[in-house]
Amino acid sequence: MKVLNFGSLNIDYSFEVDHLVKPGETESSSAFLVTCGGKGLNQSVALKRAGVDVYHAGAIGKKDGKLLIDALLKESIDISYVTKVNSNSGSAFIQVDKNGENCIVLNGGANKLIDEEMVDYVLSNFDKKDIIILQNEISSLPYIINKAHKKGMEIVFNPSPINPECLSYPLEKVSIFFVNKKEAEYLASSSTDVLENLKAKYPKSKFVITDGSKESIYFNGKEVMKQKSLCIKPVDTTGAGDTFLGYFLSSYIRGDKNPLYRASVASALACLKRGAKISIPRLGEVEEKILEIEEKN
Ligand code: RIB
Repeated sequence: MKVLNFGSLNIDYSFEVDHLVKPGETESSSAFLVTCGGKGLNQSVALKRAGVDVYHAGAIGKKDGKLLIDALLKESIDISYVTKVNSNSGSAFIQVDKNGENCIVLNGGANKLIDEEMVDYVLSNFDKKDIIILQNEISSLPYIINKAHKKGMEIVFNPSPINPECLSYPLEKVSIFFVNKKEAEYLASSSTDVLENLKAKYPKSKFVITDGSKESIYFNGKEVMKQKSLCIKPVDTTGAGDTFLGYFLSSYIRGDKNPLYRASVASALACLKRGAKISIPRLGEVEEKILEIEEKN
């Protein structure tokens, strides 16, 4: 079984601010960071750091994409399916406030130039039972979902950032949805009985729902599991959801009884450092933290 992440690659421009800027306001930042990010790249890194070999497929700019390729190579992630295109790489302008909360403006760039020809080529190298991971930051998603489903691949979809267009995708073909609370409500078209509504709308799917500092929930098709979040003081929550997804999937692939546990520890650790990709913990750090928690209890 192979794991393919067909996902976004962004250059993140991150500004540390006192508060998230209001309409009409100009604010100076106290720190500025340029790093590699994109939900796709972060999730591939989290998977790899959690011990899963991953193929990353995506698109970067010919002129400015080298740092993204280098970041993937440094993690020993397979880049055979990353294409260079005539455009800027994707970028994200991120404000992080003093409570670690963020807001993000995206420019899709190369991520939005993924076309059907690229998809056909990439998917021709994958087969039945392989896992494909997708986020809502690249083009041709309906085509990818239909084609991967036809091949019998297991489709993991993180519909983030969620938008109206996303609801028109063939989502009934998704095996596992990864959503935060707001995305879950959006997908369910309701803010009450969210999981019940999701189950009714997508009866063949599993759901992982994260609720920040509170808890995470996993519906595995039969039963619901819940995991309390670790109590921490976040420095920067950027990339915490991506870390959660990578660590959850590593546990899921291994067949762990409670795949939420390691993921919630890993994502809490990711909130304690600035930046997205650079804040994703390595497996050793996560295991050390788990030992520390167990010794305290
Ligand atoms: O999930 C965090 C990521 O969202 C950032 O790295 C940014 O690039 C955006 O895609």
